Amino acid sequence: MDSRVPAELERKIDKAIGHYPPDQKRSAALPLLHLWQEHFGLINDDAVTWIAAKLGLQPINIFELVTFYPMLREKRAGKTHIRVCRTLSCAMAGSYQVMENLCAATGIQRKTDPAAAGHTPVSVSPDRNYSIEFVECLASCGTAPVCMVNDDLHENVQPDNAMSILSQPAEKPALYPPHPLEQRIIFKNIGRSNWKTDIKTYLDDGGYDDLRKALQMSRAEIVNEVKTSGLRGRGGAGFPCGVKWSFIKPDEKKPVYLIGNADESEPGTFKDRYIIHEDPHQLLEGIAISCFALNARTAYIYIRGEFPEGARILESAIEEAREHKFLGKNILGSGFDVDVHIHRGAGAYICGEETGLIESLEGKRAYPRIKPPYFPAVLGLYMCPTIVNNVETLCAVKHIIAMGGAKYAQFGRPNNTGTRIVCVSGDVERPGYFEIEVGKVTMGQLIYEMAGGIKWGRRLKAVIPGGSSAKVLRGDEQFKIKQKQPDGSTIDVEMSVDELPMDVDSLAAAGSMAGSGGVIVLDDSRDMVWVLNNINEFYAHESCGQCTPCREGSLWMKKITERMLNGGGVTEDPHTLKTIGDNIAGRTICAFGEACAWPTQSFVEKFPEEFAAHARKSIPPPLPPENTPRELIEREQIPTSPLARDPGWEKAGADAVI
Ligand SMILES: Cc1cc2nc3c(=O)[nH]c(=O)nc-3n(C[C@H](O)[C@H](O)[C@H](O)COP(=O)(O)O)c2cc1C
Ligand code: SF4
Ligand code: FES
Repeated sequence: MDSRVPAELERKIDKAIGHYPPDQKRSAALPLLHLWQEHFGLINDDAVTWIAAKLGLQPINIFELVTFYPMLREKRAGKTHIRVCRTLSCAMAGSYQVMENLCAATGIQRKTDPAAAGHTPVSVSPDRNYSIEFVECLASCGTAPVCMVNDDLHENVQPDNAMSILSQPAEKPALYPPHPLEQRIIFKNIGRSNWKTDIKTYLDDGGYDDLRKALQMSRAEIVNEVKTSGLRGRGGAGFPCGVKWSFIKPDEKKPVYLIGNADESEPGTFKDRYIIHEDPHQLLEGIAISCFALNARTAYIYIRGEFPEGARILESAIEEAREHKFLGKNILGSGFDVDVHIHRGAGAYICGEETGLIESLEGKRAYPRIKPPYFPAVLGLYMCPTIVNNVETLCAVKHIIAMGGAKYAQFGRPNNTGTRIVCVSGDVERPGYFEIEVGKVTMGQLIYEMAGGIKWGRRLKAVIPGGSSAKVLRGDEQFKIKQKQPDGSTIDVEMSVDELPMDVDSLAAAGSMAGSGGVIVLDDSRDMVWVLNNINEFYAHESCGQCTPCREGSLWMKKITERMLNGGGVTEDPHTLKTIGDNIAGRTICAFGEACAWPTQSFVEKFPEEFAAHARKSIPPPLPPENTPRELIEREQIPTSPLARDPGWEKAGADAVI
């Protein structure tokens, strides 16, 4: 044993290696890097060599991870490390101000150029007590702006009082009871008085009864119930869960794996974190049932690295479930063995894409695989049949077994069944999570009734309906949607944004998508070039870099919106932006290509006058409403970015090429 590695650390390392098949030790690379960094504070050359030797790999196999995953550090951070979320909802709520104030208070001169500062620009205070970095969406957009201080998430950080996060413990905002328009099934325990995450509370509420029931059913029966339920995946693509499951043959020769996708990184989305933090056994029960249905003896929960508390909660829930024989060998005397392991990511959005996730779980850079041939159900983890499902989808499975597929299908609308959790953030009075019957609530009800309406004194300018990848919809847009009638015929129905049902098909018909259920609301104070630039920065940072159109195009799009904001725009910029977007979408290995192209394509198309005007000269950003004195609003002197139809803007953009 290497004398510098203490016995306790090596014990943890050996335990982590044991979570993977003996011939797949490489999978333990990320867990080992986490353990090393937690102990020594950084990953240096010794770490790379030692871990490579331990796993029977070459040092380059470890080093390439250190340079890929933003959470891994080659240089020591300060004693207290602060992560400030810079993504859209947090930026709109003042996170750049939070960053400035924290730097001023800690004496940190922040490095802003990643090229000079290394791939992770962490800045350290002169006394080395503090370090700080901007990070991308921390899946807490409803309580923006948010920061992490070491492992603790601080929500609703007040920019003017940002220093308090360094002296006061993180406070969890109160969880709230359901709104009358909600139908809580998966979130039924969220915010319940006396609800705890321990197994006793869960069992007292009838927990694991659905697993008992499932173990009495045949595998085919369970898959059929899930098919009958019409459940569509809640991770983004909306693929029917039962259909995906039926790709797994009953007589598979290779081991079958199930992966719970808890990467939750799509900006605007913050539902899976609540499930994990507040009701972890619900997820484990859903996973155990799904494993039985698929004959999968091993499941991994791939949880993003920025959820350290979530990982600890799940680890302890797994221990409890093992003690009660809900996991492990011969669960509940059924003869079925199943184990669940937690695998932590290290800060890359692309790990949410299922094949990128699988590569990452195999201990490599999260480079998505080409489909075909690498459909996970055929050639997934370790080239074995694998089902990847979102956390919320797996929880829904438990309720489908409880009530039966047919009853579940009665919730929601045909082809859009059940309930789903929609997250609302941005310029609304009451941001938050709402579990709705799919398609039974309209966008207008969601924004104006459930989320309390647009911020005081403002109007709806635009809405991004399904996470930042979804195409933006204008607040005054009208759609012609084909609607099916009871007799099977279809008619064209005119709908405003407010009237759009919140379901996969309606949002697709409106030219956007329901995606991961993250609704970001933009009011009339928002400058659309500023908003797109924030989104572009996210995608330019998160592209894995494998495909030239995505790697180069995402960067160019960011550079163009950045220069437009800084007064260096040229008349052709909107056209160039659109052309770059058009040349990324459909030309890449994975759907990240579309995810980064769609915002640019749609923002430029829907707000041509703003982009044209910005291309000609930079316009000072309007004051955010929270910084605008109320008297000013009352006297109607607020400088706002006018609505798209404002004639002044149309004139400004009249001769622009778009
Ligand atoms: C760029 C990208 C990022 C993604 N991120 C996530 C994610 O964070 N969580 C998730 O569940 N699915 C994410 N997905 C979708 C997954 O690839 C996959 O479709 C999903 O996990 C399948 O689960 P479901 O069928 O239950 O929806 C992402 C897809 C893409 C293209
Ligand atoms: S589209 Fe982008 S994220 Fe996806 S594989 Fe290509 S470079 Fe990577
Ligand atoms: S948590 Fe900051 S944007 Fe999502």
